[in-house]
Amino acid sequence: MTETPIFDDDFRCQLNELLTWRRDVREFSVEPLPGEIAEKLISAACLAPSVGLSEPWRFVIVEDPARRSALRCNFEEANKDALSDYTGDRAQLYANLKLSGMNTAPLQIAVFADQHTIQGHGLGRQTMPETAAYSVVTAIHTIWITARSEGLGLGWVSILDKTRVNEDLEVSQDWQFIAYLCIGLPITSSSTPALEKSKWEQRGKVPNFIFRR
Ligand SMILES: Cc1cc2nc3c(=O)[nH]c(=O)nc-3n(C[C@H](O)[C@H](O)[C@H](O)COP(=O)(O)O)c2cc1C
Repeated sequence: MTETPIFDDDFRCQLNELLTWRRDVREFSVEPLPGEIAEKLISAACLAPSVGLSEPWRFVIVEDPARRSALRCNFEEANKDALSDYTGDRAQLYANLKLSGMNTAPLQIAVFADQHTIQGHGLGRQTMPETAAYSVVTAIHTIWITARSEGLGLGWVSILDKTRVNEDLEVSQDWQFIAYLCIGLPITSSSTPALEKSKWEQRGKVPNFIFRR
């Protein structure tokens, strides 16, 4: 059995730096990544917590150009629909945001939650079925920070028609689509969220905790 590691101040400082520099990235270099990177990121993701140890995450590494193109069309249509929900300056601002890195990201992974996995014997999920999706989100965050530790950026794309995603990737509709991840070397890096830089939104506008004493 290995000994429990002791994490020191230097480590905590670096961890905080990693979290600060995680950021959602939308502009990638087309430079290919080392072949083993997808497996490395997915292995890290599998260290994430999951309800009842069900590990409901399912990853589809999308390499086929025809499928990538179908997903890009899906995004373009969904993005156009989303844009129509805004008017005036906000519509202009939305139109200027680059909400996907799907054109260039060398590694693209669709992530799903298997709602009917037999693993975990339904523990927790019977009371709160949404915990399967929550488990998958913890895995995605693990990929996000692991990618950053490798000098890679990740962009989370959710402006997609989810039924079409399952169809285009030929996966069961029992797999709930959670995210489409674009991963690659970032063109630029910043510790400030892109949406804050582009004046779409700022952090901390709404208080996020209260006490009950
Ligand atoms: C559930 C979820 C869905 C998201 N969907 C999108 C998306 O469709 N397009 C996009 O550009 N960013 C998407 N993002 C990234 C957020 O815009 C980003 O996390 C947020 O602006 C904060 O920036 P930061 O990640 O750099 O801290 C998503 C993030 C989450 C957690």
